[in-house]
Amino acid sequence: PNYHHQHQSGSTPWRNPLRSQGLSTRRELYERDFPVYKQPVEVGCFSLDSERRFFNDSRQMRYYVEPDRNPHFDLKDGYKDRFVKRDDGEKEKLDHILRWIVANRSKLDSRETTASVLDVDFVTWRGHLTKLLTTPYETRDSWLLAVTRFRGTLYISEVETEAARRDRENRTERNAEMMYWGYKFEQYTFADDIHSLPDPSGVVNTNEAFCTVVQTRLADHRLLFSGEVDCRDKDPAAPAPPACYVELKTSAEICTPKQFKLLKWWAQSFLPGVPRIVAGFRDHEGVVVSVETFHISKISHLIKNEYNCWKPTVCMNFCSDFLSFVKHVATEDNPSVVYLFSWEPHRDVTFSIHRDSQYSFLPHWEKMFERL
Ligand code: A3P
Ligand code: MG
Ligand code: MG
Repeated sequence: PNYHHQHQSGSTPWRNPLRSQGLSTRRELYERDFPVYKQPVEVGCFSLDSERRFFNDSRQMRYYVEPDRNPHFDLKDGYKDRFVKRDDGEKEKLDHILRWIVANRSKLDSRETTASVLDVDFVTWRGHLTKLLTTPYETRDSWLLAVTRFRGTLYISEVETEAARRDRENRTERNAEMMYWGYKFEQYTFADDIHSLPDPSGVVNTNEAFCTVVQTRLADHRLLFSGEVDCRDKDPAAPAPPACYVELKTSAEICTPKQFKLLKWWAQSFLPGVPRIVAGFRDHEGVVVSVETFHISKISHLIKNEYNCWKPTVCMNFCSDFLSFVKHVATEDNPSVVYLFSWEPHRDVTFSIHRDSQYSFLPHWEKMFERL
């Protein structure tokens, strides 16, 4: 069913002359056939340790331990005394992915063996793509994406909006604690190795992360992106990554398919090819009292029968058209030029161009390549 849709010339939303400077996000424009999305292939992984240091290996991999059907996981435990929180004011941009690329240059196909050219159109974080997928249905949060073309590849890095910065700086104590709950659930659910059990008495440190790097193609866009993965199936006979990965989520109430939250969950895991989500449902005291597994492939079936529901095809077609728009706009190949794409709910996507500005994000990139 996934075949390439040929739309008539002039019908692409950004070619519409009335919108020559922007890209529409109206859902109706993206209700076409599902675009080609190749099965994502893991090309590598990396780890960030308790001090957020980069390692070109899987040392932070965690193993899923199936919880009891009727658990009693107190998510509030340890917030005051066993929590090390990552400094989210520290903007890492694409740095870790760039480090991974430099360390693994030989693994990546290159058009010419000697040239410092990546054989992909886009390099970004999975989380940035998730935001693009959910844009046609987003009514609250705006976004800013910085794009630089370097040696033919387009690098996409998020810029924090003023509203997001205000939210982050003025987070209430209650909100800060609820952000901890998601990480605490993980600690009840995964172990450090296949032979051990979860250790809820330990410290929760949100600097730690295991990230997969995948390659795939959306329509005619070749993508290389990285995303954080919560844990993997501990059975050594489980299918190869990313099929063995498990995403963990917490939620206040049982999810209904229509919810925007389920769209976010679907988009986040569908992109890297993570096949299942294990959701822990909590009571108002912050105690997880039930768990349920969602299979990504079944979510799309679940929502098909729902009236007025979000559609995966709208998400994917919007993302594909946005990437075409970026290719069309970001033409100057120059590490110090940033094309800043900007979107607010109920508006079109617009862009501005910045030279040697605060938005530049490829750090000494040419020097990084010389070291190879
Ligand atoms: P939940 O997803 O269970 O809420 P992830 O699920 O993506 O691996 O993220 C782990 C946890 O980080 C989340 O658990 C949540 O607690 C916190 N978190 C991630 N993104 C967040 C966001 N945009 N706002 C608030 N909390 C977030
Ligand atoms: Mg995670
Ligand atoms: Mg998670």
